[in-house]
Amino acid sequence: TARNLLLLPGDGIGPEAMAEVRKIIAYMNAELGAGFTTDEGLVGGSAYDAHGAAISEGDMEKALAADAVLFGAVGGPKWDDVPYEVRPEAGLLRLRKDLQLFANLRPAICYPALANASSLKPELVEGLDILIVRELTGGVYFGEPKEIIDLGNGQKRGIDTQVYDTYEIERIAGVAFELARTRNNRVCSMEKRNVMKSGVLWNQVVTETHKRAYSDVKLEHMLADAGGMQLVRAPKQFDVIVTDNLFGDMLSDVAAMLTGSLGMLPSASLGAPDIKGRRKALYEPVHGSAPDIAGKGIANPIAMIASFAMCLRYSFNMIAEADNLEKAIAEVLDSGVRTGDIMAEGCRQVGTVEMGDAILAAFKKL
Ligand code: NAI
Ligand code: MG
Repeated sequence: TARNLLLLPGDGIGPEAMAEVRKIIAYMNAELGAGFTTDEGLVGGSAYDAHGAAISEGDMEKALAADAVLFGAVGGPKWDDVPYEVRPEAGLLRLRKDLQLFANLRPAICYPALANASSLKPELVEGLDILIVRELTGGVYFGEPKEIIDLGNGQKRGIDTQVYDTYEIERIAGVAFELARTRNNRVCSMEKRNVMKSGVLWNQVVTETHKRAYSDVKLEHMLADAGGMQLVRAPKQFDVIVTDNLFGDMLSDVAAMLTGSLGMLPSASLGAPDIKGRRKALYEPVHGSAPDIAGKGIANPIAMIASFAMCLRYSFNMIAEADNLEKAIAEVLDSGVRTGDIMAEGCRQVGTVEMGDAILAAFKKL
């Protein structure tokens, strides 16, 4: 079976990190018979420079045809003043929208070697492995009306509208329950049913979805504000957290800070399965284009490599390979090899390429 990947390295450190993934793909093709075919495209500022758009129609077509998209990062000071419609982020938003990527998966994993470097107490985060499933295409970021109206008396009114339909909640809950079954079989759903009608519906639909098809999974409900507190107080109580777009945005950033550097954090965005059960999917590091370190060869490629591990897991069901790649990352960190962002006393500081090489070497041995 062909496995078609579209690589969109983007701007800044995006291409530097993507180069390390390319090496892993080449190895998997040559030695493991993985059968990946790769195509490349431009996104963000680099697409604007070449085509005057944040992503060209041709590259959008490639993205729609691919089994999975690997996305680096977009943006940078060079494009701060380009028109709003073609700003670098527009490329990512277009991809999310046209591929209908409604499920955003943000793991918060604390690698043992980094537990002590955490700004929180090591005993709270050691062994942490949670997955936040955030609804990505609905809720208050997209609901109508969405506007600023002039009230005429020197006052204006800013309006955003939280809207969720049953099917939107059902499908994100389904993703969370399915994922929980491949992990520790627990889901915590977070909303604010005490003050929001959409929260009442969210709670009802998650409960019904659970009863109908996933009663083997343990389901818990938590108010989202209490959930934020619990994430910081005792994060290891969670396995899978499912929540809406706004709360998911905030809670996943909170969870990110339990794990160390931005340079460590992968993500996946999944669409609905087609008749053959295949989902559109995009995998990207949580970090941006890091213009402050771009071109210096010092960026941490782990977030990008871990995003590729998610791709192996969720798009191609290559579970053993995904496990091994994640294990390779952990082993390299254990061995004391570090990029600057995660550097600690007694460790050996390396650049992007050396970190990528070390992970590939560890991966080859597994
Ligand atoms: P950023 O994530 O690019 O950088 C924040 C800080 O973390 C910087 O000091 C950077 O050097 C460091 N950092 C990030 N990734 C790193 C890595 N892999 N290794 C080592 N250090 C790393 O966020 P910032 O500075 O707010 O935004 C920079 C540009 O990126 C902006 O143009 C922004 O719009 C864009 N951006 C793009 C995103 C995307 O493509 N999905 C997401 C966030 C920001
Ligand atoms: Mg955010």
